[in-house]
Amino acid sequence: MKLIKPDLYYVGVNDHQLDLFEGQYIVPNGMAYNSYVIKDELIVVFDSVEKNFKDEWLANLKEVLGDEQPTYLIVQHMEPDHSGNIVEFIKTYPNAFVVGTAQAFKMMSQFYKEEIKRKIVVTEGDSLNLGKHILKFIMAPMVHWPEVVVTYDETGNTLFSADAFGKFGALDHEEDWACEARRYYFGIVGKYGAQVQNILKKVQNFEIKTICPLHGPMLTENLNYYLNLYDTWSSYQSETDGVAIFYTSVYGHTKEAAELLAKTLEDKGCPKIICCDLAREDMAEAVEDAFRYPRVVFATTTYNMSIFPFMRTFLDHLLEHNFQNKTVGLIENGTWAPNAAKVMKEILSKGKNINLIEPEVRLLSALSEENKKQIELLADKLMEPSEFLAKEKEKKKPIKKHHFACKICGFVVEIEGEELPKDFVCPICKHPASDFEKID
Ligand code: FEO
Repeated sequence: MKLIKPDLYYVGVNDHQLDLFEGQYIVPNGMAYNSYVIKDELIVVFDSVEKNFKDEWLANLKEVLGDEQPTYLIVQHMEPDHSGNIVEFIKTYPNAFVVGTAQAFKMMSQFYKEEIKRKIVVTEGDSLNLGKHILKFIMAPMVHWPEVVVTYDETGNTLFSADAFGKFGALDHEEDWACEARRYYFGIVGKYGAQVQNILKKVQNFEIKTICPLHGPMLTENLNYYLNLYDTWSSYQSETDGVAIFYTSVYGHTKEAAELLAKTLEDKGCPKIICCDLAREDMAEAVEDAFRYPRVVFATTTYNMSIFPFMRTFLDHLLEHNFQNKTVGLIENGTWAPNAAKVMKEILSKGKNINLIEPEVRLLSALSEENKKQIELLADKLMEPSEFLAKEKEKKKPIKKHHFACKICGFVVEIEGEELPKDFVCPICKHPASDFEKID
């Protein structure tokens, strides 16, 4: 149990037993299932945790609540890593109301076959008054399931963001946020960029001081860093300048071509190069890198007149997750009927803004002198300025600042954004934000 800020407590758990999160993602540093309590005149609990952690979660709740009774359990997301103990909660606190969207209650009956007698159905813009804290509900369908709602505490300026801003990794393991948040985002939410953009727009004018996701750490400082990364990821902009090369290789010849391309790019001063063997790298790590870099090269062998299975799986993952806005080079290998580039092009034709560049490199069994020249030319093409990066730089221009003047004493303040925070007070005459006017 941990006090995050006045009235707000963490009551979640760490899972170090899990082998695969959601049945497919390795979590070498475990996973956190977050749950929160706001103690006000009325007490609210945000989401339960995975079913195996019933005892630990109920003990955490007891430690915060003592003999007090919660009034509400807010169910923001019904995936079982969060909903696994709703029934246990109701048995423990039978007078509490369960709060969720209509679709969440439908899923509750499907998963848990339990009739929820005390329930409150919420939708966009509904609010819940706890006494001092006022909670506002914002529908967030497909971030990451259709029933999702996120919650803004207007009093504490806290956004309870459901799966958004989550990451892999338990909270008792210190690590960089972005690496495992990016792998989590592109694996789990990445397909739903438009829906994430929608929720970012809905909250853009809220004053957010804390983000409480359902996985990963509570975010309390430098929130623009996290919000900007989510904006980049969900709008399918590339994040880091460089080239990501993904290959499969049966006898090492395609690998040799991929590594020669990496070395050539390095010699030409490419700022960052990833060279990834898809048969041995974690697939989710490869997926996040493909979205991260603006230029991507796929190198694979012809296999049963198609492509090697790891490359097939990889490309399927990318296209399923709306892979787009990339400059792409291709390397194929084939001993008697090379066909891999054709198959890769057919798959990639389903992506948006995929700019295929020449030359395609065709190995006939092993690397030839002609292939080495083609790789040199491909490296030159990959080093040309990317139009996607140029657009990105344009989008990353600093946020416009505005000046506001106090109508009482004339004090002028400069801030980012169109409005002063509601709780702003003039440092000179102590008048509130409503006594200020925008002067540019
Ligand atoms: Fe953390 Fe979509 O469940």
